[in-house]
This record gives sequence, C-alpha cells and structure tokens, in this order.
Amino acid sequence: MLTLGIETSCDETSIAIVKDGREILTNIIHSQIDLHRKTGGVVPEVAAREHVLKILPVLGEALSQAGVTMEQIDMIAVTYGPGLLTSLLTGINTAMTLALVHNKPLVPVNHIEGHMYANWLYTKGEEAPEPPTFPLVVLTASGGHNELILWHEHGRYTFLGATLDDAAGEAFDKVARLLGLPYPGGPQIQKAAEKGDPKKYALPRAWVSEWDFSFSGLKTAVRRLVTEYRESLPEGEPLDEQFIADVAASFQEAVCEVLATKLARAVEQFGAKEAQLAGGVSANARLRAYARELLPPQLPLRFCTNLRLCTDNAAMIACAGFHKYTKTPDQYKKWAPIIGNPSLEITSW
Ligand code: KG4
Ligand code: ZN
Repeated sequence: MLTLGIETSCDETSIAIVKDGREILTNIIHSQIDLHRKTGGVVPEVAAREHVLKILPVLGEALSQAGVTMEQIDMIAVTYGPGLLTSLLTGINTAMTLALVHNKPLVPVNHIEGHMYANWLYTKGEEAPEPPTFPLVVLTASGGHNELILWHEHGRYTFLGATLDDAAGEAFDKVARLLGLPYPGGPQIQKAAEKGDPKKYALPRAWVSEWDFSFSGLKTAVRRLVTEYRESLPEGEPLDEQFIADVAASFQEAVCEVLATKLARAVEQFGAKEAQLAGGVSANARLRAYARELLPPQLPLRFCTNLRLCTDNAAMIACAGFHKYTKTPDQYKKWAPIIGNPSLEITSW
C-alpha cells in the first residue's frame, strides 16, 4: 500500500511516498532555512508564499523519484495542525485537491503524532528494523512543541506532560540568537558546545510538576549572563569564542538533563518496554547520550539516525496516516472529512 504524505506546517515543504507505512520510497524536503536565516526566524507570510511556489515542483519530484503515478497511490496523508495556519493551508488544499481529483482516501495527521512515527521508518534498500514495542514512552522535542507521551498502541496515548512556556527547540534557537549564532540555533549550539565546559555556568533547571517542562527561566538566565558579560567587554568588542562555547555547553547540559531525566522517570514509572526521542531536538547528540546514560542498559532507546527524519518531513506524516487509516479505514473513505474536522488544533488527537 502506497501513502503520499504532505507536510507544510512550518518552513519545510515536504512530500513523501511510503510503502506499507514504514518503507520510504522518497522523502523530498524543500527547506526554507536560507530564506529565514536573514530574519533570524520564520516570518509566516514569507513561509506561506514559499510553500505555494514549491509544493507542485516538490510533488513532481517525489513522484518521479519514486517512479510512481498518482493512480498507483492508495491514500493521502496531510498535516492539519498544529503549525502556522498560512503554511498548513497549502498542504491541506493540495491534499484535498489530489484526493478529490484522484478519488483517494485522505487522512488528516497531527504534526506531533507525525514526529512520533518517525521512529517507525526506514529507507528503501535498508534492512527493515524491528518495529517498536508497546507500551513505550516518547519524548517529542521540537521548535514549536515539547511533550512526554505514554504510547499504549496505535491511536491510544496518554499525554503525560508538555512545556508550560518555551519548547526546547525554541529555547535552543533563542539562546543561539543571544550568542550571535545563526538560525536554526540547535545545531549551532551543539557545535559550539563541543569546545565548551558544560559545568562552567550553573544554569537553572526547572523541575516544574512531575512531567511538564519549562525553559523560559533558563533562557532568561542565559540572557542575564550574556548581558553582564557584554557589559564587561570594551565597547563594540564581540563575544569571544570560548565564552560562547561555555555558555552553549552549559545551556545544552541544562536542557538535556531535564528532558532525559523525565523520559527515564516516565519509562520506569509506567513500565515502558522502550523509550523514544522524536522531533528536531532529538537530533542533539548530548540528549541522545544523556538519555542512554539514565535509562536501564538493556532498555531499547530509539531515535532516528537519519537526521532528516528528526526534523520536519512528510515521510513521518505518511507513516502516521497509514497507521490511522488501517485502524479505521471507513472513517477516511472520502475526501470530505477534513473539512468537517472541527479545528486545526492540537487538542483533537
Ligand atoms: O521538528 P522541527 O523540525 O520543527 C518543529 O516542529 O518545530 O524542529 C526544529 C527545531 C529547531 O528549534 C532546531 O533548533 C531544533 O529543532 N534542532 C536541534 C538540533 N537540530 C535541530 N536542537 C538541538 N540540537 C540539534 N542538533
Ligand atoms: Zn515538527
């Protein structure tokens, strides 16, 4: 069964074709990062215009790379939220039109649920890994969201907690900006941190409630640190490399400690059979290592070694859509349900 996945929730225009919900035939990602680097972040209208320009070329490339026609596609899955509404609409309208014209079932997918399914994927030509084992705990950490979820089976989750303010990726991006590093900040902070001392600055860890997160206090502490340091420098002198590296390492350590600790605690408390990292921040090497250190040695920890699957991509949307469809196919027989769907909100999953 072939699923065409479409993702346009933020600043990636992506279309993928996935076989039987796991095997990636193609996963085309047009990233707008170069465009948004100029403004140090995503300007929604700029992102929306770029999606409109790129969605059909990306579709054409996906079909030709996979060597399939629209007639051979069995179903379509599209991100319907959360995300930037003006960006989402390009993907949704494209998916609805394709579903109507080619008479295919259309499955709306929550973006976060998409990230959770990234760990089920493998690329054509690779050996298929064992599928994950339920129940499992998944930590989703991205630029726009950050959750801890107990996953019982396909379509059944317990939402344990989320960030009360900034998402982890957002904190990485904002701290990078304070340090004068380019957008997106996560990979830049990770790189700068390699030469830094994670113990140099004692930054705060917010242990709010049992399963929630909070990163705004940490971000404010970094802002204060950078401002004080700047004031100690002769006017106009830039921050020196060692200071940037030490702040980056200390900040990264604080974020990863909280994320990894809560993941490990949830695994223990709920008797999960495996742990998973998902979302853009799951690309972070320190987070992966920290989680591995805190989890029992024999407990599987899964994350995407292919970094393109950590950040936004359509293959994960296709994978989530396939599993939703196979559970209740009748629900998605026609293209219409997406219109009747009450909202583009996170709460509907
Ligand atoms: O999942 P994603 O592509 O988009 C959202 O759904 O938000 O995540 C993007 C986020 C950005 O904030 C970016 O800085 C962060 O993921 N990120 C990282 C790394 N790579 C990407 N954060 C920390 N370390 C990384 N290596
Ligand atoms: Zn995302």
